[in-house]
Amino acid sequence: VPLFGRRSRVFCRYRGYVLPSDIVNTVVNDIPWFEVRPDDTWVVSFPKAGTTWLQEIVYLICNDFDYEKAQATTIEDRFPFLEFPYPGVKVVAQSPPPRFIKTHLPFSLLPKQLDEKKPKVIYIARNPKDTAVSLQAFTKMINYVTFLGNMEDFAQLFVEGTVFYGPWEKHVKEAWDRRDEENILFVTYEDLHKDFRGTVQDIARFLEKSMSESQLRALEVHCSFSLMQSNDSVNYSWQQGVLFGEGQFMRKGKVGDWKNHLSSEMSDKFDAMVTSLEPSGLHFVDS
Ligand code: A3P
Repeated sequence: VPLFGRRSRVFCRYRGYVLPSDIVNTVVNDIPWFEVRPDDTWVVSFPKAGTTWLQEIVYLICNDFDYEKAQATTIEDRFPFLEFPYPGVKVVAQSPPPRFIKTHLPFSLLPKQLDEKKPKVIYIARNPKDTAVSLQAFTKMINYVTFLGNMEDFAQLFVEGTVFYGPWEKHVKEAWDRRDEENILFVTYEDLHKDFRGTVQDIARFLEKSMSESQLRALEVHCSFSLMQSNDSVNYSWQQGVLFGEGQFMRKGKVGDWKNHLSSEMSDKFDAMVTSLEPSGLHFVDS
């Protein structure tokens, strides 16, 4: 029984990763030669790891907490998605510095100049069970992928490494292995949940930006789940009826929601995947 509908985007494997075919063309032909600037700021993640949350934090820290400026433009325009057809890699390349760039590509598929120009790069990871649940909900919501299976079917594809941008553990491990490089910071969704203030202070230090106590307090309120959910510059409401059908991009924003969706057998399969990463020192909290 096919799990993806006929009108779904086609996926293919490129250098060990599963990518939508239109993105593969960009990844092969444009991304390797993309000109990186040392004053760029990059947010890199596996999809549904809390990318948008981190983007908003980074953008505000780097733009003097100018909430009006952030509000005036969608996150998609002020912090574009490198390999996505909109606005397109050529537009991103030509945008004036300082540039803010989001990508879901793993390190091994990023531009060759990244290692030479050494812009600041923050990678965010999320425990795979919540990532899979969030990605399945997202897959149901987006118009260009028709997933016909249920949550358990999707979770099985996730652990097999065949959902887009997978295998998840390969993606995360590549970033984890580079966490000590001076221009790279590795954070987790669970860190932001548990200790928003401490994690944001680490991020600001890494970005070489100072932040007062009142600025931190205001950012914490601004980036709370309920305010981000109703914030039309970050909640992707502009894509409703365009790229998205039914459903909310800012869905639940919780750690441990997987318990409402995954069987204990499936949870064991995810645990085995996480355990395989533990010798590297990488651990995940999932409740
Ligand atoms: P859920 O689907 O579990 O709710 P990404 O931006 O990488 O696509 O990640 C989206 C996930 O991050 C969604 O998870 C979304 O709700 C969650 N998220 C976004 N903003 C958040 C916030 N301020 N607090 C907590 N979770 C947030």
